[in-house]
Amino acid sequence: MNADQDVPAAAPALTVPGTAAEGRQPFRSQPVSFVRRGSRLQGRRREAWAELADDYLIDVPRITTDTSVAPGFVLDADVVFGRRAPLVVEVGSGLGEAIAAMAEREPGRNFLALEVYRPGLAQTMLRIEQQSLTNVRVAQVNAAEAMAGMLPASSVDELWVYFPDPWHKARHLKRRLVQESFAVLAARVLTPGALFRLATDWSSYAVQMRSVLDASADFENLHHGERAGAQSPLTQVWESGVELVVGGAPVREGKDPVSTGNTGVNEGTDTLGGWAPRFEGRPLTSFENKAIEAGRMVFDLTYRRR
Ligand SMILES: C[S@@+](CC[C@H](N)C(=O)[O-])C[C@H]1O[C@@H](n2cnc3c(N)ncnc32)[C@H](O)[C@@H]1O
Repeated sequence: MNADQDVPAAAPALTVPGTAAEGRQPFRSQPVSFVRRGSRLQGRRREAWAELADDYLIDVPRITTDTSVAPGFVLDADVVFGRRAPLVVEVGSGLGEAIAAMAEREPGRNFLALEVYRPGLAQTMLRIEQQSLTNVRVAQVNAAEAMAGMLPASSVDELWVYFPDPWHKARHLKRRLVQESFAVLAARVLTPGALFRLATDWSSYAVQMRSVLDASADFENLHHGERAGAQSPLTQVWESGVELVVGGAPVREGKDPVSTGNTGVNEGTDTLGGWAPRFEGRPLTSFENKAIEAGRMVFDLTYRRR
């Protein structure tokens, strides 16, 4: 599928970790939030890519790798979706469970899945086809790059980041997707009043998301102060120590349990709260299911673009 590539303006001068556009440095001069997992397609997913990409996969011009976005490329969503409608964007859509479920429920909105993992995109296209959805498109891109230039400013009506890779170890924290630079990108693409929904099953990442977005003048927590104290999933994680073991083995980096290492272990009570109720539009994905089976808590956050 071809989007409008005839856009002379260069991508805005935003600093995006790990992007080709950043100071025109080589791609991955900064850490990115993903690693290249096997991108080879097999069986039904391979066939799906061959058969369905023309209909659902956005043809993104590249500069370096197959997840990069050529500077100057701007998506024309009206052309890509063949209609004008509110746009929901999911960053790191995995196998497409959430986006396909919501697209089916809300045919009046357009849904765009941004994902680097090719088998996940193939699976998402299979879902689109199986569910006869006409309102979903997918793009194989580093979402940070897409949000810096490919998506026009104020063009997104809802943004989702569900269960981003946790990057537990202290030396990997800089790879986490949701950090200050990402909040700037989210603010750039979201239209005023639009919602930014996040979920994670790791307390230290939940705290990082909350701190980053609370500190941004562009966002307002829709559930400010809610579920604090004993009601807070954070308090419950600290009290239970559930994150101190994963799959029966302690999660450790040096002497500290890494998942709670940057929030403090058993800090006592989370007095801030701010946790949203579980978004009923988010189906239980395999990632979330594994977390629940391991006894971990799930943290939801919902912010509104000012
Ligand atoms: C832990 S999985 C969660 C998938 C899905 N959201 C879910 O809840 O089932 C995180 C996903 O984010 C993707 N990802 C990580 N960094 C990304 C980036 N910068 N741009 C696009 N996708 C990214 C990974 O490839 C992976 O599929």
